[in-house]
Amino acid sequence: MITKIIEKAINEQIRKEEDSSRIYLSMASWSQVNGFQGAAEWLYAQSDEERMHELKLIHYLNDRGGTAQLADLEIPTTKFKSLLDVFQQVLKHEEYISASINEIYAISIKQNDYSTGNFLQWYITEQIEEESTAKAVLDQIQLAGEEKGGLFHMDKELAALAAKKRASQLAAATTNAGI
Ligand SMILES: [Fe+2]
Ligand SMILES: [Fe+2]
Repeated sequence: MITKIIEKAINEQIRKEEDSSRIYLSMASWSQVNGFQGAAEWLYAQSDEERMHELKLIHYLNDRGGTAQLADLEIPTTKFKSLLDVFQQVLKHEEYISASINEIYAISIKQNDYSTGNFLQWYITEQIEEESTAKAVLDQIQLAGEEKGGLFHMDKELAALAAKKRASQLAAATTNAGI
């Protein structure tokens, strides 16, 4: 059985993961409209991944005797200055999510809820990867600067990264389904 404090903290994280999914969906849409097809593919895949993070929390909470509760969400912005602006915001958002995960982890330890602490380890590891990928992409966009050729190359790289992400999502879905 889960405590009310942990239930509240996990429900808050469920809201944040759903919010992340919508923020990236909005960024994906902007990228598609503005001719960054590779970035759009990566962000659409990223949006799906955040939905998966949300779902994993919902299942965990319900399995432990809590009740998952969805929340109202803000309308995500559709106004971005550039691809650089998009990825600056991606990195900032991931840093915010990492801090949030660390906070729930600290609460779970304070509550002597080691099962939740153990469950959250997956998110802690995931956040290291999320931040490092966002930082790597951002560095390359910064290097490309405003130069068209550089951004074109970067967009191709993002398309390749998106294909890799889709393949690992498929593998994870197959494992979860027990196939
Ligand atoms: Fe996430
Ligand atoms: Fe994320």
